[in-house]
Amino acid sequence: MTNTATTTPAQASPATARPDEADSNGRPLVELRHVDKHFGDLHVLKDINLTVSKGEVLVVLGPSGSGKSTMCRTINRLETIDSGSILIDGTPLPQEGRELTRLRAEVGMVFQQFNLFANKTIIDNVMLAPVKVRHVSKQDAHDEAMELLARVGVDSQAEKYPAQLSGGQQQRVAIARALAMHPKVMLFDEPTSALDPEMVNEVLDVMLELAGEGMTMICVTHEMGFARKAADRVVFMADGKILETGAPDDFFEHPRTERAKDFLSKIIDH
Ligand SMILES: Nc1ncnc2c1ncn2[C@@H]1O[C@H](COP(=O)(O)OP(=O)(O)O)[C@@H](O)[C@H]1O
Ligand SMILES: [Mg+2]
Repeated sequence: MTNTATTTPAQASPATARPDEADSNGRPLVELRHVDKHFGDLHVLKDINLTVSKGEVLVVLGPSGSGKSTMCRTINRLETIDSGSILIDGTPLPQEGRELTRLRAEVGMVFQQFNLFANKTIIDNVMLAPVKVRHVSKQDAHDEAMELLARVGVDSQAEKYPAQLSGGQQQRVAIARALAMHPKVMLFDEPTSALDPEMVNEVLDVMLELAGEGMTMICVTHEMGFARKAADRVVFMADGKILETGAPDDFFEHPRTERAKDFLSKIIDH
């Protein structure tokens, strides 16, 4: 992370157009090739092909049960796949071992439930993985954790425990914790779905800021305002398949499939 540490979350300017398929080196940062996965008889990912370029913000939309979370979880091997391959910055994800730990550290993940350690202070939550996994000194980990907490606007809460913070604050800590590992890509799986409505924007603002700084992001979200503002590309999934991929304005104004039209009519008309 090279940005300044003391800014509060601010509305980032909309993402500018970026190359759609590959970065300037011609290599996608995340690539899924013919990925298939079953849970028992349920075919949950069906021939998923997806590339995400460096600096690209991808928003994944689709009805509940379409495989969005499973796809995210395969990208850092929280779930295995049956066939196909997943590459992070050109390197295939191995099944297990030290190399998997290393590659997994390159993928930051933020979940609907914040998953902070309840018995650790906020600062300790953010310092933990850098000290344990990256072997950063405690002093350096502390300094960087404070910078990250300032960046997401919760540095004043550093010595508190998660339960003493609001949901929006906890989710911002979860983002800081993921960033502390210096990931190449950040995955967000419905990061605002468990929040009270008045806390949604403070989390989306942090995500917009990250997007504006060039972070590569894959975001599963139903926040259409965020999708329109931040996404370079939208992917629509249903029944384990990617049915549509396109620029946000194209997708929202001219969805091609009946499934997408139906989905959009349900979320936008309320
Ligand atoms: N661990 C699991 N075991 C069995 N079935 C699962 C598991 N996780 C998810 N599923 C099923 O896989 C399908 C896709 O789920 P999920 O990826 O969570 O979809 P989404 O995030 O789009 O709502 C659903 O039918 C869900 O019930
Ligand atoms: Mg899900």
